[in-house]
Amino acid sequence: MEYSKLLNGETVMQISKSSGLDDVFQWITPELLQERIFNGTNIAYGVKVGDEWCGIIVLGKEEEGRLWIEALGVHEDHRRKGIARNLVKLAKDFADREDYRAIFVDVDDDNLIAQKFYQSVGFVRSGMVNSYYFDETDAFIYRFDL
Ligand SMILES: CC(C)(COP(=O)(O)OP(=O)(O)OC[C@H]1O[C@@H](n2cnc3c(N)ncnc32)[C@H](O)[C@@H]1OP(=O)(O)O)[C@@H](O)C(=O)NCCC(=O)NCCS
Repeated sequence: MEYSKLLNGETVMQISKSSGLDDVFQWITPELLQERIFNGTNIAYGVKVGDEWCGIIVLGKEEEGRLWIEALGVHEDHRRKGIARNLVKLAKDFADREDYRAIFVDVDDDNLIAQKFYQSVGFVRSGMVNSYYFDETDAFIYRFDL
């Protein structure tokens, strides 16, 4: 497995065309991610097995010391191997280096797997927002304090 920081739009386009990461590009289009990496408001890390991209995490640099996980996804053939845990570790290391106060993420209230995942890597539920998504489902907000 090879983890890397995504530095340019070309890599983002490559990842967006790989199969199995469609969830992530429903949440953020490749074009928007390219633009935000270029202007420095997002950073992203990807992971490859051989030549295949199999996971990505997108981080938004917010005000007041908040780092937000905008998207996280692992190809279903590679789940339960610790890949998302390693991607979140890269986010924690980045947040630590850059003096962020906490990492936040919104999770669909129906997405129990993601909630178990975030709890397993030390995030705690810290709120709920009604009708957070386009389809009017609710979100739980999870946070990890640094
Ligand atoms: C959530 C997701 C990113 C987890 O990725 P992953 O690489 O499989 O997770 P990891 O292997 O690092 O799991 C770490 C821990 O999380 C928990 N966990 C992960 N998947 C789980 C599952 N299906 N059921 C129960 N616990 C789970 C476990 O505690 C696991 O540790 P263990 O395997 O030693 O028991 C992945 O399931 C995914 O891409 N889901 C679809 C997209 C999504 O929902 N993204 C998050 C939205 S913000």
